[in-house]
Amino acid sequence: MITCSAPGKVYLFGEHAVVYGYSAICCAIDLRTRVHVEHSDSIMIESSLGMTRLDLEIHPYVTKVIEKMQEFTEIRGVKIKIESEIPVGSGLGSSAAVTIASIQALNELFSCNLKSEDIAIIGHEIEKQVQGSASPTDTYVSTMGGVVMIPERKKLNSIDCAIVIGNTGKFSSTKKLVANVGELRGEFPNIIDPILTSIGDMSHNAEIFVNHGDYSSIGKLMNVNHGLLDAIGVGGAELSELVYAARNSGAISAKITGAGGGGCIVALANDTDIENVAKAIRNTGAEAMITRNTDKGVRLES
Ligand code: MEV
Repeated sequence: MITCSAPGKVYLFGEHAVVYGYSAICCAIDLRTRVHVEHSDSIMIESSLGMTRLDLEIHPYVTKVIEKMQEFTEIRGVKIKIESEIPVGSGLGSSAAVTIASIQALNELFSCNLKSEDIAIIGHEIEKQVQGSASPTDTYVSTMGGVVMIPERKKLNSIDCAIVIGNTGKFSSTKKLVANVGELRGEFPNIIDPILTSIGDMSHNAEIFVNHGDYSSIGKLMNVNHGLLDAIGVGGAELSELVYAARNSGAISAKITGAGGGGCIVALANDTDIENVAKAIRNTGAEAMITRNTDKGVRLES
């Protein structure tokens, strides 16, 4: 049996602006999806959603991965088991992680010789097929790990402090939120474009702070980024409650991560404040997860 894993991610800067070509900074996190594969007589896919054969309803990403991998090798039978620490549909890149880990697991099992760059490209293609549209961010960061500037694909230094994630548990539709921002931009281009430009510029300022480990300055800009996300209409009471709970309990910074509307916030915290920040998030009734940046992108575990 072969096991491969791939990480989820948070946006430190730049969600939504990245849709319009502005820069964003994304950070792989140590919440991973593990995919176990072994040769079998037939195709079986098992996850917390159940056991299926090729099934575009229940296991769309893995089904598309198997179909795509048939271009590189003949897959008559394989047993695939998925285990994930990344909550689904919360903006933490769960679909990219399962896609990327599945490609790598089949790549290893069938010796297809695909390189990281190929895996990231195929993963993005599959996300687009399943979701209708998708930016290459999640699949790229899940493949490469670390801290990455998008669309430049530039690796920055690692983030060396705790990352506390607060999950509202409220479903967030990326497609709808991206469309809403597009509509607002269409209605008020002279107001919204400067906000998106400012978010993109923020990523460039932050690049230097990330590379110098200046968490205080990164934090100030993340807080500004949160305000600008609110301004373009992707915030909400639940998200703001978590952001202020985190900031008021000692977090360096806190902002929405991902599409917004629901989903998650990301807070940076010094080691001494981690528990207080997580507790403050939990006290609002939300789920808190404590994690860190990981340099390990997709990898063979065993
Ligand atoms: C969603 O996680 C991030 C967005 O920028 C959309 C995208 O980049 O595809 C809102």
